[in-house]
Amino acid sequence: MKTNPYADAPRLPEGERVDPRALVGGGTRPIEIEIGPGRGGFVFERLAADPEVCMLGLEIRRKWATIVDQKLRERGCGDRARVFAEDAKSALPRFPEACARAVFVHFPDPWWKKKHHKRLVVTAELLTQVCRVLGSGGELFIQTDVSERATAYAALIALEPRLRALNPELGFAAENPFSARSPREHRAIADGLPIYRLHFRLQ
Ligand SMILES: C[S@@+](CC[C@H](N)C(=O)[O-])C[C@H]1O[C@@H](n2cnc3c(N)ncnc32)[C@H](O)[C@@H]1O
Repeated sequence: MKTNPYADAPRLPEGERVDPRALVGGGTRPIEIEIGPGRGGFVFERLAADPEVCMLGLEIRRKWATIVDQKLRERGCGDRARVFAEDAKSALPRFPEACARAVFVHFPDPWWKKKHHKRLVVTAELLTQVCRVLGSGGELFIQTDVSERATAYAALIALEPRLRALNPELGFAAENPFSARSPREHRAIADGLPIYRLHFRLQ
């Protein structure tokens, strides 16, 4: 019988409430959260860019959570960053208010047909949870190469009055200011695709 090689994927501790700050950095300082890190390139580049950063990734695919979390440990970063095999939609509500200083969502929702709508990651409910876990001054950064999705995200974010655009005059942000790129972002740049970047700060 075939066994699932990722049956032991890293999971968040059990319980109704989980403090992610205790899992990375071990302290009380706000951390950075990436939703759907996939192959994990952004986490590694972000840790290298800023030695102060502690990160937690929520990746629904057990395979990628297992591989990236293991690589983090092998590279000696396991105390600063972890990736857990979790659905961000059920994980974020378990986190305390104002535990994060940034939330990143890079290239979610690559499909945009109506039949895929129930799989969408960036929804009104998710944004409510993002606002809850972000402390005042915390940043939300979303990128996509699908223009319809970018417009839909902007419309959803407009319903959250505490999220203020960091570049209101430009609409979308021209660049990624975090000195780190996701794997899909690198590919989009190499392929010359347009990237729509939404960068907001919680008031
Ligand atoms: C298109 S990939 C982009 C991967 C990476 N962010 C990048 O930019 O290269 C979307 C990622 O989000 C993950 N994902 C989808 N729904 C999710 C959810 N509800 N919670 C956590 N991760 C999710 C997928 O498994 C996949 O790794």
